[in-house]
Amino acid sequence: MYCVRSVTDDLLWIGGNDRQSSLFESAHPVPNGMSFNSYLLLDEKTVLFDTVDRKAQGQFFENLEYGLQERALDYVFVHHVEPDHAAILQDLLLRHPEATVVCSQRALDMLAQFHGKAPEKSLVVKDQDTLSTGRHQFTFYSATMIHWPEVIVSYDSTDQVLFSADAFGSFGALNGVLFSDEVDFERDWMDECRRYYTNIVSKYGVHVTNLLKKMDSLEVRLLCPLHGLVWRKDLDVLVSRYRTWAGYEPEVRGVLIPFASVYGNTETAANILACRLAEKGIPVSMYDVSITHPSYVLSECFKYSHVVFSSPTYNNGIFVTMENLFHDLLAHSFQNRTVALIQNGSWGPNSGKVMTELLEQMKNIRILRPTITLKSSLASGQEKELKALADLLAEDLRS
Ligand code: FEO
Repeated sequence: MYCVRSVTDDLLWIGGNDRQSSLFESAHPVPNGMSFNSYLLLDEKTVLFDTVDRKAQGQFFENLEYGLQERALDYVFVHHVEPDHAAILQDLLLRHPEATVVCSQRALDMLAQFHGKAPEKSLVVKDQDTLSTGRHQFTFYSATMIHWPEVIVSYDSTDQVLFSADAFGSFGALNGVLFSDEVDFERDWMDECRRYYTNIVSKYGVHVTNLLKKMDSLEVRLLCPLHGLVWRKDLDVLVSRYRTWAGYEPEVRGVLIPFASVYGNTETAANILACRLAEKGIPVSMYDVSITHPSYVLSECFKYSHVVFSSPTYNNGIFVTMENLFHDLLAHSFQNRTVALIQNGSWGPNSGKVMTELLEQMKNIRILRPTITLKSSLASGQEKELKALADLLAEDLRS
């Protein structure tokens, strides 16, 4: 049974959802599920915009056959060959051998890597190449490293639609809704959209900025990503957030305190610091990095202007779950922030030094001093050090 939604008079959403997998890409928790978007254009020529993950293929193929109404499939635009969008391309081409795959040269090469051979009928497109499907006129743009090197996006100048591949996507299944104006986006989707961006796309902010510059020269009325909601109103809500994220700029002037704490003593210091900050009216948030998955904490690190990393010393380094977070921060080009450190160590406090060395590998990270050092637990009088750190952070936030 088909389950489709109309995007425009001749464009259908024919994708699917996965609510059974607990992880996306075997890495990121998706408690709200995941959508895999595919679109079908019924012009003089028919065009399929990407396929879906294997987990959604049953619904997808029923949707496709319903949408085509026994017409031939003329083109398949493969914007991105990652298997959540292209693993079933061979199955599709067995059903529709008449279809021509439209993609970048690099995508064609990678399809051969994944599937053992390249599609028999293909049309390689380069940046700014064009294609007419009848009423609709398409221009292709290279979108390298959003999120793989072969990625292209396509722009339909007739209806002013941008098919944006992974860009502007989100974690979360589509529960009947399709358009961002059908939900309370800020309340229900923004956090997962940010978490998707930071974990999937953020490493290459410069490439995202390049795509945003290209978009500035286009009239985009509809934004159709490969995951999450379609945008037909107030596109700037998300586009402006992308400008912030791509520039590694914070959204909130406030303090995030990711902490690790084996026996609660480092957590106590973090709690006291949070109290002193909250008393000053400063936005403050805390995460136990042993409890909260790093994908969430990474996303919060992108959100806040100031971060106080708090960790015990462990095997003469930093605590293992804090180490995971630092690995993610490095891997996703975290930069452009002000940080402070709280370290703990019963006989050889060293986590502050190791965190500093890792932070020095990141771009434009300013470390406020001094680092607060606990020896097993807060000593009498150390509340004053935490108060002083809160004062320093407050002053820095005001500057
Ligand atoms: Fe949704 Fe990079 O694949």
